[in-house]
Amino acid sequence: MGQRVNLKDYVIPRHIAFIMDGNGRWAKARGKKRTFGHKEGSNVLKTICRDAYEIGVEYVTVYAFSTENWQRPDEEVDFLIDLLRQYLKESIKTCKRDNMRVRVIGNKVGLPLDVQNTIKTLEVESSVHSGLNLQIALNYGGRDEILRACKKMAEDMNNNSFTMNNVDEDVFSNYLDTKNIPDPDLMIRTSGEIRLSNFMLWQLAYSEFYFTDKYWPDFQKEDLINAIKIYNKKERRYGGLKDED
Ligand code: IPE
Ligand code: IPE
Ligand code: MG
Repeated sequence: MGQRVNLKDYVIPRHIAFIMDGNGRWAKARGKKRTFGHKEGSNVLKTICRDAYEIGVEYVTVYAFSTENWQRPDEEVDFLIDLLRQYLKESIKTCKRDNMRVRVIGNKVGLPLDVQNTIKTLEVESSVHSGLNLQIALNYGGRDEILRACKKMAEDMNNNSFTMNNVDEDVFSNYLDTKNIPDPDLMIRTSGEIRLSNFMLWQLAYSEFYFTDKYWPDFQKEDLINAIKIYNKKERRYGGLKDED
């Protein structure tokens, strides 16, 4: 199945984050409705998760619906939420087959109640799986996540659990939706846009970025491999210097 690749001489990013962009333009280019692109995009997500795991990636985070996406026409928002609802329901079954752990990051309270319940079931049932860790960013905004973390932290301070002096980056990170999930090593955005669109503002502080003009529904394993190869050419210095410098 699939293309045989030899990546044994490459460092495989432990965590890859994807901004799955360009579904609408992909559909439009085919004379179809934008929603057709979203459906195809969700199929590509399933394939890319399998590919990433096969390659050796441990964590995949995907931007599925942003806090700003509610501004789209009702028909598109309804379609997207329903597509995600179905995706999450189906994942309760497929996560067992694939040994995959699924978590949702984002403001869950803003989602329909039945979707919140499906998420709870999926997160609990898949928590025992030791294969790929998939994070779906749903009603997610980086600023919203940071604000929610600050509010929760302030609440804990009011309850005298701890004081401001105890707060460092590790303590703060544990208030984020990505608690216990390592920061992405690589962020991939499709569709030619070179921006973050409010995605993982804290977590992407030192990630490598890979941008491709391809629309998300056209993104394939070979593109993922190409991104990993380019990632390997980067010198990650985290503000320091390499030994030989
Ligand atoms: C990404 O594709 C999916 C979501 C934002 C939900 P778009 O819907 O943004 O497609 P384009 O960027 O308009 O082509
Ligand atoms: C980012 O894409 C959000 C998702 C992929 C879910 P958008 O298409 O919404 O971002 P902008 O509007 O081009 O910045
Ligand atoms: Mg877009």
